[in-house]
Amino acid sequence: MKLNKIIIAIDGYSACGKSTTAKEVAKILGYRYIDSGAMYRAVTLYFLDHHIALTNPKEVDRALQQINISFKVNAKNITETFLNGLSVEQEIRQMRVSEQVSPVSTLKAVREAMVAQQRKLGKDKGIVMDGRDIGTVVFPQAELKLFMTADMLVRAFRRQREWLEQDRLVDLDDVIENIKKRDLIDTTRAESPLRQAGDATVIDTTHITIDEQVDQVIRMAISKIIAL
Ligand code: DC
Repeated sequence: MKLNKIIIAIDGYSACGKSTTAKEVAKILGYRYIDSGAMYRAVTLYFLDHHIALTNPKEVDRALQQINISFKVNAKNITETFLNGLSVEQEIRQMRVSEQVSPVSTLKAVREAMVAQQRKLGKDKGIVMDGRDIGTVVFPQAELKLFMTADMLVRAFRRQREWLEQDRLVDLDDVIENIKKRDLIDTTRAESPLRQAGDATVIDTTHITIDEQVDQVIRMAISKIIAL
C-alpha cells in the first residue's frame, strides 16, 4: 500500500527540542528532515567569514548569489549541512554564529532566498522541516503544523548539555542570554516573525521526554496521513 505523504512543519523558540523531535519523526516515517535554522546559520557563517556588512543591501545580495547550501546524510545517518560543497555542520553551531544568526535572519533578502530553497525541498512532500516560519510562511498549506515551547531554564540546560556532549563548556548564564536575545529578535522582527500559526498544535516540552514528544507527533502525523 502506498501511503500519501504530508508536510510536517515544526516551529517554535530556540532550544525547545524541535530538531531532535523532527529528526526522529522523519526517521520513523521515512521522510526527509530539513533543519531550516541550519540554512540561516550557514548564511551567517559565510557573512562572518567574508565580512559582509548587513547594512549594505548590494553586498548582501552579491553574497547570497555566491552561497549554495545543501544537505547530505552521512555514514552515521546524520544529516550534515554543506556550504558551497564543504560540510559546515560543526562550525555553524559555534557561539560566534549563534550570536549573529538572528540579526542575519531579519534581512528580507536572506529570508526570500532561503524560503525559495525550502519550498523547492518540500515540493514532493514527505518532509519534516523545523524553524520559525515554516507553518506560517514557507508551507502555510502543511498538513501538520506544530508549535513547540518550553520553560526557559529547561531550554538552557538542554542546550548546555548538548554542547557538553561535544566537549564544549559554556556558562549557563551565557546560554540563557543568547536564547533570550534570539527569542526577542525572532519574535519582533518585521519579516516573518516567529508566531504560532492559527492551525498549529502547541507542544510544551518542559515536562515531557523526547520519546513522548516523538510519540505525540507520530500519532498526529498518522491521523493526518490516514485522513488524506
Ligand atoms: O533553529 P536554530 O536555533 O538553529 O535557528 C537559528 C536562527 O535562525 C534562529 O535564531 C532564527 C533563524 N531562523 C529563522 O529566522 N527562520 C527559520 N525558519 C529558522 C531559523
